[in-house]
Amino acid sequence: MKFFVDTAEIEPIKELAATGLLDGVTTNPSLIHKSGRDFMEVTKEICGIVDGPVSAEVVALDHETMMKEAEVLRKIADNVCIKVPLTVDGLKTCKALTGDGTMVNVTLCFSANQALLAAKAGATFVSPFVGRHDDNGFDGMDLIEDIRLIYDNYNFGTEILVASVRHVTHVLESAKIGADVMTAPPKVIMDLFKHVLTEKGIEGFLKDWAATGQSII
Ligand code: E4P
Repeated sequence: MKFFVDTAEIEPIKELAATGLLDGVTTNPSLIHKSGRDFMEVTKEICGIVDGPVSAEVVALDHETMMKEAEVLRKIADNVCIKVPLTVDGLKTCKALTGDGTMVNVTLCFSANQALLAAKAGATFVSPFVGRHDDNGFDGMDLIEDIRLIYDNYNFGTEILVASVRHVTHVLESAKIGADVMTAPPKVIMDLFKHVLTEKGIEGFLKDWAATGQSII
């Protein structure tokens, strides 16, 4: 499963990229607002840090203006992935852009039928929002299971990008189901490294090592 980080903050992206485990970045208008940075500038900077796809979202609601915005965004760098909402105009835009070889992430997916439409529109990624689904009394992971089943039934090439990830259990469940990608805030990715027994084990080994009086280098 690929790991994307869901942020427009440069420092955590650099930190995660340095682990060698980061496969891409997702942003959205809210994350750009939170960063306080200029959209074009920060997107260009992020694209220079990671080799993988960096999602940048259009804000227009009609196909024609979405295409114009996508034209501007895709000039930022070769690894820009255009993010479009799961609407009729969004999917028209998706079809036109992917037909041209541009990567497209169809976002704000909340049903398996919507995911089916995104795949038929040739999306590179579809982003089902599991956390927001949970918040509204549904089980976000059931949605991922349904999309996996449908995509496997028809061998769709669209990658399932689990979004709105809130905790490490979302990551674990996504991997068990066989999602292709998950995008999570930096803290959730850092939490994946942690286990109390790993920390305790290191403490014990270091104590005993110090008692030997030896050194490796
Ligand atoms: C995905 O691409 C979105 O940016 C994101 O995962 C939304 O997450 P939220 O529900 O925590 O805002």
